[in-house]
Amino acid sequence: MKHTLLSNGRHIACYESGAAGSLPLVLLHGFCEDSTLWDGLLPGLQGIHLLRMDLPGFGGSDLPLASGMDTSADAVCAMLNEFSVERCVLVGHSMGGYVALEFAARYPDRLAGLGLVHSHPYEDSPERRETRRRGIEMVQSGKRDLYVAQLFSSLFAAAFAGQHPDTVDALIENAKRQPAAGIIAALEGMIARMDHTATLRNASCPVLFLLGTDDSIITPEMGLQAAMLPDIVDIHVLEGIGHMSMYETPEKTVEIVRSFWEFCAQR
Ligand code: MLT
Repeated sequence: MKHTLLSNGRHIACYESGAAGSLPLVLLHGFCEDSTLWDGLLPGLQGIHLLRMDLPGFGGSDLPLASGMDTSADAVCAMLNEFSVERCVLVGHSMGGYVALEFAARYPDRLAGLGLVHSHPYEDSPERRETRRRGIEMVQSGKRDLYVAQLFSSLFAAAFAGQHPDTVDALIENAKRQPAAGIIAALEGMIARMDHTATLRNASCPVLFLLGTDDSIITPEMGLQAAMLPDIVDIHVLEGIGHMSMYETPEKTVEIVRSFWEFCAQR
């Protein structure tokens, strides 16, 4: 069911399903995506109290007041408060993982588990910042559609993209519906985001790492290095999978997320 709430005076679209009462599982999408990213996993997550949201600037949510992972982390907190959720398992895909890490730094007591799906705790390299600045210029000059087409074409393992062009196209079409100002705010927020090595080192809850051997954005090396930081980790490196495991191997992805949630719920 769809709900709209206010965070810093801005509307946030969020979606609730499953049985309230169990430990809630919160799913955050990545860059140029929205909460529909997780649609293919929903049948496999039945019975779990599930919360999803469109991060500020994407889907049905308003633009953020200020760019930054902190603004999005506060929106996650506003959603938990709205649904009277004290603690949850928070799982983020890529940029959603950056938001989840910011949430973990700000509200550590609200987490029973932290899941990083194709994500990592490190700040941007100078080269990555430069690439993002070029992206901002491209979107500002009216080339949003070209920008997202190039972006999503590179996110999948080559074999999957060749066999499933419709899936890639559907994500590109969805990304073309995201407002240019939201894309720019997210790029600015990722450029400015802080390193969360200490957040992971200090994490008192279990941390999930889901990585793909063919992920060109978050390499398995980066993820494995980060997985050394927390005390309790659940690591999965999926062979032949790129940045989009929820599309490339949905059964395996839902099994991993569900098992992690069960582990956190039983502690
Ligand atoms: C994402 O998928 O959210 C982004 O590609 C993450 C990034 O650019 O660092």
